[in-house]
Amino acid sequence: MNPSLDHLAPSTVAILTDRDYSEELGISADLHQSVGYVFLNDEHKAELTRPLTGMSYTRRNNPTSARFAKVMAQLERAETGMTFASGVGAIATTLTALTDAGDHLVAQASQFAETTRFMEGVLGKYGVQTTRVDQTSVDAFERAITRHTKLIYIETPSNPLLHLTDLKAIADMAKAKGIVTVADNTLATPVNQRPHESGIDIVVHSVTKYIGGHNDLMAGCVTGSRELVERIWDTSYTTGAAGAPFNTWLALRGIRTLGLRMKQHNANGHAIAACLERHPAVKAVYYPGLESHPQHELAKRQMSGFGGVVTFELRSGYDAAHRFIEQLKIPTHSGGLGGINSTVLQPASFFGNRLPGSGSPRWG
Ligand SMILES: Cc1ncc(COP(=O)(O)O)c(C=O)c1O
Repeated sequence: MNPSLDHLAPSTVAILTDRDYSEELGISADLHQSVGYVFLNDEHKAELTRPLTGMSYTRRNNPTSARFAKVMAQLERAETGMTFASGVGAIATTLTALTDAGDHLVAQASQFAETTRFMEGVLGKYGVQTTRVDQTSVDAFERAITRHTKLIYIETPSNPLLHLTDLKAIADMAKAKGIVTVADNTLATPVNQRPHESGIDIVVHSVTKYIGGHNDLMAGCVTGSRELVERIWDTSYTTGAAGAPFNTWLALRGIRTLGLRMKQHNANGHAIAACLERHPAVKAVYYPGLESHPQHELAKRQMSGFGGVVTFELRSGYDAAHRFIEQLKIPTHSGGLGGINSTVLQPASFFGNRLPGSGSPRWG
């Protein structure tokens, strides 16, 4: 991390962090589409096979992926970072690396569906238990802690209900008890929120969303201290979860305009949420930027913008949603968010059968 860049706008940071011209003096980043790299001598080989930073083989690391991770670490204000094949790859590898059989996790009732599936469906099989709590209550996290709790997992804002978690309160409480904290910052992006600044140990991202920004790549990322990221890297090298260079190259191209795009997402999200809130057919709108959001004060404290995702419920109910979606002219009915297309989705029917207690509309 280079603290002298911290006072600059994210778009400037995203361009200056890795300004490092190739021999050909290309102004944009090179795509290193190579699996392996040549060892010039034994000393060079030792350098290329170091944990995390060594680039002897693309499953270890790759110059294009490392360059993208460096920009992410700078934007998130972390010591270092690494890339993954997807957001889920980043989450699954982080949770696997930082827990052992017999450990306990505290996570949220409202969080991305596959995160819940991984915790309960995969980690559970290997003896890691998860308790999920109401994320709006710091006390609920604290009450769920046992002497086996190794990690607290946060997603704020959460997908799809846009509930918030108090990053600083959880980080302070966890630190005092020696518990590692991980936060999924996908829906906020480092432009709107930087969890490390509140004391969170590891930040994970689905780069597939706002950071890639064009609905054309799948990638994930983790940032944090070298010590923790090296542990995650060690598991990634074994599970083969590494980011692919073409995708991280696209992510590098996307991240250059993240600051500008988030400005517009924040404005559009707010305008749509305010419009929906006034509409008689709408029962409830969940958007942290609205004064009516029950955690609006917390949103203003830990976020500088509220993003482009708006969640709402129709008065006509669950079954009417697909008729409503069919009549929309501009948004595309599709999964995925954070790209250049407006998308619309009914999460309860899309994710419902992937969740425990399947199909429950209360998940969104
Ligand atoms: C908050 C959040 N985290 C993680 C993911 C998973 O990311 P990916 O689809 O890149 O695996 C998603 C995907 O929607 C998400 O919304």
